[in-house]
Amino acid sequence: MSTNKKEISAANIVIFGGKGDLAWRKLIPAFYNLFINGYLPKQFAIYGVHYEKMDEKAYEKHLLDGINTFSRSGKAKKNDWKKFATRVFYFEGDFTADDTFRRLGEVLDKNDKAWKTRAVRLFYYSVSPRFIEPISLLLSSQGLANETVHDRIVIEKPFGSDLQTAKELNQLLTRHFKEKQIYRIDHYLGKETVQNLMAFRFANIVYESIWNHHYIEHVQITVAESIGVGGRGNYYEQAGALKDMIQNHLLQLLCVTAMEPPVSLDEENIRNKKVDVLKAVRPLTKTEIAKHVIRGQYGEGTVNGKKQAAYRSEKNVNPKSNTETFVALKLFIDNWRWQGVPFFLRTGKCLEKTSSLIVIQFKPVPHNLFDSKVMTDTRPNQLIISIQPEMETTLLFHAKEPGVRLQIKPVEMDFTYKESYDTPVPEAYETLLLEVLEGDAAMFMRADQVEEAWKVVTPVMEAWKKETPPRFPNYEPGGWGPKTSEALIKPQGCSWTLLPENGILKNTIRKK
Ligand code: BG6
Repeated sequence: MSTNKKEISAANIVIFGGKGDLAWRKLIPAFYNLFINGYLPKQFAIYGVHYEKMDEKAYEKHLLDGINTFSRSGKAKKNDWKKFATRVFYFEGDFTADDTFRRLGEVLDKNDKAWKTRAVRLFYYSVSPRFIEPISLLLSSQGLANETVHDRIVIEKPFGSDLQTAKELNQLLTRHFKEKQIYRIDHYLGKETVQNLMAFRFANIVYESIWNHHYIEHVQITVAESIGVGGRGNYYEQAGALKDMIQNHLLQLLCVTAMEPPVSLDEENIRNKKVDVLKAVRPLTKTEIAKHVIRGQYGEGTVNGKKQAAYRSEKNVNPKSNTETFVALKLFIDNWRWQGVPFFLRTGKCLEKTSSLIVIQFKPVPHNLFDSKVMTDTRPNQLIISIQPEMETTLLFHAKEPGVRLQIKPVEMDFTYKESYDTPVPEAYETLLLEVLEGDAAMFMRADQVEEAWKVVTPVMEAWKKETPPRFPNYEPGGWGPKTSEALIKPQGCSWTLLPENGILKNTIRKK
């Protein structure tokens, strides 16, 4: 969490895969917005390293096109872009060749000399996993990233494809860099609403004091997407929803929701508390996996009126694929705070709408004074934290309806970003890239955290390998996944909570 304490004076930023999709859609627009908002240091240069031949002008045009299409601040202003473009360079080079790193080293050293300081070096691996090893080896053997205090590498997911490969990846990285230099990025942790969860929980006494098994009945974490896998069939076939979303984004949300208060905002304190959550997740047994883990795959249909091909007909997908595009599961956290509280996690593609929510379902009052005529809706209090696309926090509680006769109805109390702030909300990558530049790893995953997250999903992966695959496809696009996912939560006496588009929770009265 960037606390304005660690501003730096100079930075050399190197993006391996500088012409790739991530750089185009996310990284360069994020750096551009940091630049126009005055967050980049006075001295900086960005190098997009890529193996293709490309001239500087063509690269600039490509990046400008990316900014104009994807930047949250809209089309680049001519003057701003001109200034930014003078700091961005195309750097042709093979990620596996000594020569690339030798030349790169010379350029970075030259900048340091001109800037009269040893600049922070940020090396972003926006590359396929097979390049992680050669890049790391060459960065360290050519001495480009040997200063622990100044030099950082950023690694994108997937962090391995199971516990074993994650361990190997961690060992590989720590052969070349100190753990302090390694930033394993999960962009969910940069989302404004997720960062706010720390403030929400630890800057307020009211919620923290009821944030435990005495008051909370269960917790739901949903990350639903209306889009399918699109052109990512190749990758997705190897991943599936469990590895693509649960192992990282949803477990990270679980950590922020369930962690103990850290002693300070120091990165190690925060990361220790998150690791504790994952360590306390009760390992799923074979029987529990059969009962408490639901998987699904979308068939053909429509989402929001648009035709959607079945997963098995998507590009680069095996027509008999058993890869899951939906997962819902129930976990328990075995510690004092959360004993007996189920955590329901669910994610899927081609669902009715894109919506990420954390729902805290409180317990009913111990003794209800109001009979069913007075209080027709007795649902217990609910706190709904909407991460995206709506950014709001809603508390559902009961109130007396005005009138001479006693009538009690649920109402909502809302905090919405739109109504509360005029300031634009940064993209997750902006926040996280600034944190890397300023050397704050609190919102990045430490090696042990990644491994613990793999431990949570490993029993599921193993059980699925042995089980006869389910009859896929088993859900229609545009709905909420397989019917069995409702059955998972039903014993709690409720269903998955949604935040309908008009912002009004079912059966509640709200006047705007
Ligand atoms: C990525 C997954 O990490 O997160 C994608 O690989 C998914 O499959 C994406 O679509 C979701 O991110 P966001 O920010 O759009 O919710």
